[in-house]
Amino acid sequence: MTAEARLRRLTLAVLGAGRIGQAIIRASKPCFSRVIGTGRRPETLRAVEGLGAEASRDNRWAAGEADVVVISVKPHHFAEVARAIKGVVEGKIVVSVVAGVRLQTLREALPGAEVYRAMPNINALIARSTTALAPHDARDREDAAVAEALFKCLGSVYWIPEEWMDAWTALIGSSPAFLAEIIDAMVLGAVMTGMPRDLAYKALLEAVKATAEHLEKRPTHPLQLRDEVTTPAGTTIHGLIKLESEGVKAGLMKVIEASTKRGRELAALIDSAVRRSLNRQL
Ligand SMILES: NC(=O)c1ccc[n+]([C@@H]2O[C@H](COP(=O)([O-])OP(=O)(O)OC[C@H]3O[C@@H](n4cnc5c(N)ncnc54)[C@H](OP(=O)(O)O)[C@@H]3O)[C@@H](O)[C@H]2O)c1
Repeated sequence: MTAEARLRRLTLAVLGAGRIGQAIIRASKPCFSRVIGTGRRPETLRAVEGLGAEASRDNRWAAGEADVVVISVKPHHFAEVARAIKGVVEGKIVVSVVAGVRLQTLREALPGAEVYRAMPNINALIARSTTALAPHDARDREDAAVAEALFKCLGSVYWIPEEWMDAWTALIGSSPAFLAEIIDAMVLGAVMTGMPRDLAYKALLEAVKATAEHLEKRPTHPLQLRDEVTTPAGTTIHGLIKLESEGVKAGLMKVIEASTKRGRELAALIDSAVRRSLNRQL
């Protein structure tokens, strides 16, 4: 049986149905036989019901009912949720999307569970997330295929070593924000020349999507495409010299480097805070 066919017989519990949790519920609802979402506030529970899933405040009950559990609370709520479900997830697949909490901590917090880390991005809201799963050396196992099939309901999946998770978070997790800034800046540039904003925005979005598809389909190195557009003494080379003199390329390289560095710092802080909190509970 394929992993996709297996999912259709399984129950999924999403513990912490916030922004990313609701995106997971929405996209995975057709893939599973049953989906349960948890939260504390009535608004959260209503939102879960609005997505056609079962809503509950009881994480332990939800995890007990489920075959596959996703933990999608903020890091400071992780220890409380882990304590609640400890003992009812043995032998089950538990995927944490909580930024910064390491696999070793997950294994210690949830003994006996098959644990994975996932890092989806905000494009999960339109079922186009580019998600990383770790550990990459588990990818051939049967339960790993189930975890992969779950995140394929939200878009595409890449198995990566856990040590790349912070770079992934910068490049793929944060890139919708970086790309949104770049798109906004280019639209403002067009507005400066007198073009209406709506037209510039719509047309640029199309050009961005088509350029990404072009690079993927041909496939060619980005700089080859650049050279094909750049005619001598033309408009593109006049723009390119400005890009260089303003340090945009080096700036963007540093954006990913700085964001990764911050990701590492935060992960160390989050993981040790979670461990302290778990130790207090033991
Ligand atoms: N947003 C993203 O793009 C993204 C991407 C990748 C990973 N993540 C990770 O996903 C996690 C959630 O992020 P988010 O942006 O979705 O945050 P969020 O919108 O604040 O969602 C967290 C949810 O957890 C619920 N919650 C808190 N304590 C709970 C408990 N004890 N039991 C059950 N539910 C509880 C909250 O519901 P109530 O308000 O009802 O308590 C809230 O809706 C974070 O750890 C983040 O690192 C987020």
